[in-house]
Amino acid sequence: MIGWDAATASRPATVALAGVHGHGATHLRHVIKLATEGRVRLLAVADPRPPGDELPPDVAVYADLRELLAAVEVDVVVISTPIQTHVPLAELALRSGADVLLEKPPAASLAEFEHLVSVIEETGRICQVGFQVAGSRAARTLAELVADGSLGELRGIGAIGTWVRTAQYWQRARWAGRRSLDGIDVVDGAVTNPFAHATAAALMIDGSGRADQVESVETELFRANPIESDDTSAVRVVTSRGTTVVTALTLCADQNDPEPMVIVHGSEGRAVLRYSVDRLSLTINGRTSDTQYGRDDLLENLLDHRADPSVPLLAPFAETGGFTRVVEAVRVAPAPLEIPARFIRWDGDGPERRPIVAEVEKWVTRAGEELALFSELGAPWAIERDDEEHG
Ligand SMILES: NC(=O)c1ccc[n+]([C@@H]2O[C@H](COP(=O)([O-])OP(=O)(O)OC[C@H]3O[C@@H](n4cnc5c(N)ncnc54)[C@H](O)[C@@H]3O)[C@@H](O)[C@H]2O)c1
Repeated sequence: MIGWDAATASRPATVALAGVHGHGATHLRHVIKLATEGRVRLLAVADPRPPGDELPPDVAVYADLRELLAAVEVDVVVISTPIQTHVPLAELALRSGADVLLEKPPAASLAEFEHLVSVIEETGRICQVGFQVAGSRAARTLAELVADGSLGELRGIGAIGTWVRTAQYWQRARWAGRRSLDGIDVVDGAVTNPFAHATAAALMIDGSGRADQVESVETELFRANPIESDDTSAVRVVTSRGTTVVTALTLCADQNDPEPMVIVHGSEGRAVLRYSVDRLSLTINGRTSDTQYGRDDLLENLLDHRADPSVPLLAPFAETGGFTRVVEAVRVAPAPLEIPARFIRWDGDGPERRPIVAEVEKWVTRAGEELALFSELGAPWAIERDDEEHG
């Protein structure tokens, strides 16, 4: 469907899904649910690994998206495939005349990002990025509080996450934990993929989502796992409105905390957003309130926007340029530093094996509270190297 008109807007949008396993299985269930509600019609899926029997029998299956788009005309393509395929597949879908819901991170490099911006402009199609936090009413409320000065002058934003991931996480796909694959950028590390939401949320809350709203990016990338990319990292972004954003993250925590936090430090108050559960805690003038919010779904929002363009798109592609500046900084940074073995304790066996970085929770929390990088705080594994010890 090219262009908007009332007749096409009133019938269920036709949908295709690229990538049906992994996170794609969640998209598949959601699209099937929307189909039962009469909001969409799932016409086809594309994946080199065929889907299982969860797929309704009338849905066509293709090994790749190009083949699918040559055979089936669809209104919307949902893309939940490996990072390095995002921009090429989104371009195929947009050029076929479809609108796109593209998983995060939107692109593996700034050049790819800018290329897709030009494809979106050229085709006039819509591309929404799968940053669910953009649909969080808790995050949107916090962005409004920051914008209207309710927290006073902004001292900075910290974003922290302490997760546990075992060997099987890194072994689940060929591209997992890779900086590049077969000469193509992948940039799959803690900052750019599992905790992408943390940085994206912080930038969104600051009102600094676009590429030109990021002044500078510094990275400190470390790894304890035998992978190419980072699993324990800190990043400092300064936005063009002067906010310092520090993101500090690890996938090598002792205990898994499933609720990463974005902490807004203001002169008059403090806000803590637990973005994965849409909970906002506000402390203003010494009084704290906790509020549970709801969330708007990104695919439904895309459908609503298609049906009525006055409905704002929650995570438009252009608004993820600031986050992509961080991806670019990670992409061009030197390879992550290996954390010296004496700061790592190993737990579990086989697929359950995992490294635990010494006191990593403490250093991550301090980074988010003090808005400083690990080396500046003196985290020993960030400043002491094995080669120095033996040299
Ligand atoms: N928004 C979120 O909270 C969230 C959560 C998890 C993953 N993700 C994102 O979802 C995407 C997929 O991640 P994953 O962990 O599920 O990956 P995965 O490798 O486990 O699954 C990817 C799927 O895509 C298929 N695939 C590979 N190349 C393809 C191609 N060219 N065309 C069609 N299908 C193809 C694979 O066979 C597989 O079924 C990534 O971008 C990831 O960052 C987002």
